[in-house]
Amino acid sequence: MSPRLALVTCATGNVGSKVIDHLLATGCNVRAGTRHPEKGQSRPGVEWVLFDYSDPTTMDPAMKGCDCVFLNMPPAYDKTLERLSMAIDRMKANGIGKVTFMTNLFTEANPASEHRKLELYLAGSGLRYTIVRPSFFMQNFLGQHGQTIKSDGAFYLPAGKGRIGFIDTRDIGEVCARSLTDGNLDGQTLLITGPELLDHDDVANILSRTLGRTIRYVDIPVEAYRGGLRSFGMPDHAVDFMVFLFDTAVRNNMAAVLTDEVKRVLGRPPRSFRQFVSDHTSHWSR
Ligand SMILES: NC(=O)c1ccc[n+]([C@@H]2O[C@H](COP(=O)([O-])OP(=O)(O)OC[C@H]3O[C@@H](n4cnc5c(N)ncnc54)[C@H](OP(=O)(O)O)[C@@H]3O)[C@@H](O)[C@H]2O)c1
Repeated sequence: MSPRLALVTCATGNVGSKVIDHLLATGCNVRAGTRHPEKGQSRPGVEWVLFDYSDPTTMDPAMKGCDCVFLNMPPAYDKTLERLSMAIDRMKANGIGKVTFMTNLFTEANPASEHRKLELYLAGSGLRYTIVRPSFFMQNFLGQHGQTIKSDGAFYLPAGKGRIGFIDTRDIGEVCARSLTDGNLDGQTLLITGPELLDHDDVANILSRTLGRTIRYVDIPVEAYRGGLRSFGMPDHAVDFMVFLFDTAVRNNMAAVLTDEVKRVLGRPPRSFRQFVSDHTSHWSR
């Protein structure tokens, strides 16, 4: 039976917002979890609710009466393991029928990571689940790098020439929503990527051609990257993870992975980086 009410955590985020779009399209109503429900955009079928991993008393009211949950982990959060495992316990206590948990490309290879420990905790919980492991988001070039692309015509990373199968968060959101509504995906781990491997010079070239002005990728020293993240107030554990991602994993081509999972699940290929840039040109206009 199709779910009638879903809780979407991180509902204001890159992927949560897209999961909502696709659940609504299937006729499922949504509880959109956020720390600031008063700011939620009003739309038919969406009820904005207080959901804060730092305040466990918000979990039961948000989950009560829901059929399924999209579980996501806020970036740079300092109590991830404790609070997300608590959320999984509360899902069990509230009789949630299905959980989709989003982690990342490197989770399997990183047994000490919080993402991997939580995947195993969910798998052992007795809940029906799907795990979705996406590659790097195309939308990082709107958020993380959007400002310097506009102001400097450049973006800065310690990633060398490493290649990535960037994926559009609209495709991730659709796969996650499908996994909540399609029982055939129960128990599966979906490693999802975009359609092609690109390095950051390729990304800069596509941005340049589509926007009609030069956008440069600058391969910065790792200490400059570390200092930049710290200056935004990012905690040390999160800085270390970002440095691992780009200076170790991407630089050494560990993210050069492509799969056909989006096509298998959705019956169509994932969006290309060119399509993503064409769809968002106004975002980078000065
Ligand atoms: N960026 C990538 O390329 C990439 C690739 C693969 C996987 N991932 C994974 O994707 C996840 C999301 O990352 P993102 O950078 O895209 O962030 P995001 O989901 O766009 O934004 C962060 C979200 O976390 C919510 N949040 C923050 N603190 C919270 C708290 N205490 N309780 C409840 N919700 C809280 C925020 O909601 P409110 O502010 O509305 O409360 C917001 O919706 C991370 O686990 C990351 O590892 C990212």
